[in-house]
Amino acid sequence: MRGNHEVGSFFEASKPCDYKGRPGRIPWEQHGPAVYLETGRQALRSIVEDLCGKGVHTVYLPGFLCDSMLDPFRESPLDIVFFSMKPNLQIDPIDLARLAQSSERWGYAVMIARYFGHARDSTYMTEIKRLREMGVQVVEDLTHTIFDETKSEANYTFASLRKLLPLATGAFVTGVESFHDQSTKVPARSIHEEIWQCMDDKRLFIDGEADRGNFYDRYMAANEALERVIAPRAMDARSMLLLSNLPYSEFARKRERNYAILSEAVASIADIRVVNDIDMMTPTHLVVAEVRPKNLRQALARRGIYCPVHWPRPRMLPDRLSWPSGHFSIPIDQRYDSDDMKYIATTLEELCR
Ligand SMILES: Cc1ncc(COP(=O)(O)O)c(C=O)c1O
Repeated sequence: MRGNHEVGSFFEASKPCDYKGRPGRIPWEQHGPAVYLETGRQALRSIVEDLCGKGVHTVYLPGFLCDSMLDPFRESPLDIVFFSMKPNLQIDPIDLARLAQSSERWGYAVMIARYFGHARDSTYMTEIKRLREMGVQVVEDLTHTIFDETKSEANYTFASLRKLLPLATGAFVTGVESFHDQSTKVPARSIHEEIWQCMDDKRLFIDGEADRGNFYDRYMAANEALERVIAPRAMDARSMLLLSNLPYSEFARKRERNYAILSEAVASIADIRVVNDIDMMTPTHLVVAEVRPKNLRQALARRGIYCPVHWPRPRMLPDRLSWPSGHFSIPIDQRYDSDDMKYIATTLEELCR
């Protein structure tokens, strides 16, 4: 690997020259405007308030989700039911069909998500359309599918943009009526300025122009402060400016290429199995499960390849709900190229030997 190059962890700031003069079409704005907030949970919080105002009493959520997605519901009066999930970590469409067939539909909402860049296939489209026609409020989390320009059939959409893009803060939401006459609060300057500073420091480190210092710990602290804020606040100005200058289709092509290279390269490693291997559009990660537990994730981290776990089991989940485990997500994002993918594959081969 070159210099201070490493794979994964939070986004370093892009170089000012990276995207100049190549503004991209913002994929999720192709079907209408969006409101921009700091985080996905703030976006979901605004949707939850809107749903409560419409008399919704019960919401169906994916039975596999990030703990943070439950935060916006914690102080709401909504009852929560969980959909079951398929082995590829997508919502089981049979559960959606079952809900559409039940006689009780008034006051219900569903939150759907296609994780890891899953394609918008016709089974989901049909069920979601059917639920909407029956009066069920549909919310779609587009966090893992922001590069997909096809129209969502949901009443509400939202996404955390800071997960897949090099932004300090960022999320969008559509469909929330209360935003029409109420602007969102301005962000707390110190938090997003500190996050940008850490992203700038990481950039200098990667370019070999500074030591590592303590940007990782500082980033974690500032990010924690950001994530404690649930009331909607506007996305910071530097992130907002960058949003209209990012080359989205180039990002998508890079991710697709990296995913293809890495999944082909790891196909012969018997100790791991690719989890998100079917019906993929623009992948977020290559999700792999360890066939025989070997602590591969920790071993990869020791070689500078940092793989998140999507997701540890949320604390408030009922015990009867099973939870997939033993998998982790390998970064394949736009920061990396085919050499990085080959380096990851070779490292995995060595670790599994
Ligand atoms: C799929 C998905 N949606 C939404 C969120 C929440 O986004 P944020 O962390 O910006 O609140 C997350 C967070 O990890 C997520 O993974």
